[in-house]
Amino acid sequence: MAYLVRPNIRYQTSYLVALDEYGKDSSGVGPPSFLLSDKAVFEKYLEDIFAQADSPRSPGTDHAPFLMWWWVEGDKYLGRISLRLHLTGKLELYGGHVGYDIRPTERSKGHGSAMFSSLLPIAKALGFTELLMICEEENISSRAIIEKNGGRFSDAVIDENRCLHLRFVVDLK
Ligand SMILES: CC(C)(COP(=O)(O)OP(=O)(O)OC[C@H]1O[C@@H](n2cnc3c(N)ncnc32)[C@H](O)[C@@H]1OP(=O)(O)O)[C@@H](O)C(=O)NCCC(=O)NCCS
Repeated sequence: MAYLVRPNIRYQTSYLVALDEYGKDSSGVGPPSFLLSDKAVFEKYLEDIFAQADSPRSPGTDHAPFLMWWWVEGDKYLGRISLRLHLTGKLELYGGHVGYDIRPTERSKGHGSAMFSSLLPIAKALGFTELLMICEEENISSRAIIEKNGGRFSDAVIDENRCLHLRFVVDLK
């Protein structure tokens, strides 16, 4: 059974294989796997992830301090989920509180939904009373994950590239 953990060196081997699965798409997920094959470099990478919780607010950007967890089963890395601790104006419109990703070979097996569901009690324990969740209109599986987990449709906004973003609220009270 899969569960959330904080990023950990235990999953280095599996994480590197997962990064390779993304191929050219890995830029949004992590650095190329060959850079992280060294243990010391991987440990520094984990430190940088943990430091994100205290990173400065950057109004006007889509970056905010966040906490990250990995979705794992045994020694296998399956995906990651991030909880943004503050929202910038751009994140209010297009990003929301949560970003997540399941490695390509593990998609459509229920992991995305289970991973998001597992984050909800953690977010509540951290003091969140609701989560703003946003997905692009054509992201059918992300929309299904949000709605399966209680997401209430709020509205839709169009960005400068004419991409439609659907905004939902998940109540944690
Ligand atoms: C979005 C993402 C996290 C979904 O993860 P996943 O593990 O595949 O999702 P699940 O298996 O839990 O599926 C959730 C729902 O999506 C739908 N779904 C899953 N795979 C689907 C597919 N290939 N086609 C259509 N619908 C699909 C199903 O309705 C499913 O609900 P069900 O369990 O009631 O059948 C994954 O596709 C991903 O990492 N995408 C790239 C990053 C991304 O888009 N992140 C979200 C940004 S908002």
